[in-house]
Amino acid sequence: MPSQQYMGERRIVALRRLDEAQLERLRQVAVVDAFDDLTDDNRGAFMASLSRAHGLVGGKLELDEAMLEQAPLLEAVSTISVGYDHLPLAAMNERGILLCNTPDVLTETTADTAFALIMATQRRLVELSVMVREGRWQAHIDRPHFGTDVYGKTLGIVGAGRIGAAIARRGALGFNMPILYTANSPKPELETELGAQYCDLEELLGRADIVCLVVPWNADTHHLIDAEALARMQPHAALINVARGKVVDEPALIDALERGVIRAAGLDVFTEEPVSAYSPLVTMDNVVVLPHIGSATHETRDAMAQRAVDNIIGALAGDGPVSAVNE
Ligand code: DGY
Repeated sequence: MPSQQYMGERRIVALRRLDEAQLERLRQVAVVDAFDDLTDDNRGAFMASLSRAHGLVGGKLELDEAMLEQAPLLEAVSTISVGYDHLPLAAMNERGILLCNTPDVLTETTADTAFALIMATQRRLVELSVMVREGRWQAHIDRPHFGTDVYGKTLGIVGAGRIGAAIARRGALGFNMPILYTANSPKPELETELGAQYCDLEELLGRADIVCLVVPWNADTHHLIDAEALARMQPHAALINVARGKVVDEPALIDALERGVIRAAGLDVFTEEPVSAYSPLVTMDNVVVLPHIGSATHETRDAMAQRAVDNIIGALAGDGPVSAVNE
């Protein structure tokens, strides 16, 4: 925990997901305005608080350039997430506002979510469970309901950062999976530890049985997986996305799943969230969908909140944040 000093009349706005213990930590160092949510009804009050605030901390932060204009004192923003694609980083850089995030503490949990999607798509767990619940299990299970092995299949990790490496470890050590990966540069430690093989996206898509997306969303990764990329995948392959919805061209994915260009998809993230219940991605049997729960466990969300509060206290009153994007 960072060392801290009293900040006098400094003010912090807290938005969403902070429990009383974390709010109390903030109150030790600043005047705190806490908002459980941001709605049309309280937006005026929220903006009034933000206009006086030195720090903003919370989950699902909504902040754009117009809001920054009205927050002249803001020095630091601390998001309860590792991703920060929802925040206006360039505008924050221009204003010298520090952006803090929560890497590390969610790595293993998000890797678990990816692996849950891998298991569910390969073994058709959701589709077959729904069949049982709906009373449609009427005979011995035969070929039409068989799944596909996980053990020994080739796992392609698109974006071998912390989470990608944790997924690769599960695959290689737990399921004897050969690992292919893309990254900004080769990762010798992954190659030594897991025998992982660095390759370009084209090769990975062509060779992997399961392709797992773990890249951040930005201009370079927008629709990285489009119709052309999907066509490079093997017809029996599955696509897993625990990154961001916009890394995938969703209409192209729907088309590929409908036409059997690929076999299945496991998705925790969507272009629009919450995804519409009428989206073909939600209604197709060969797609497993989750409501963006990558890091959503009690332990991990508590650790993320703790880290975000450490960050804002460290940024405004201590020795600096534990993790910042633009320090
Ligand atoms: C993250 O931390 O970025 C996860 O996707 C949860 O939003």
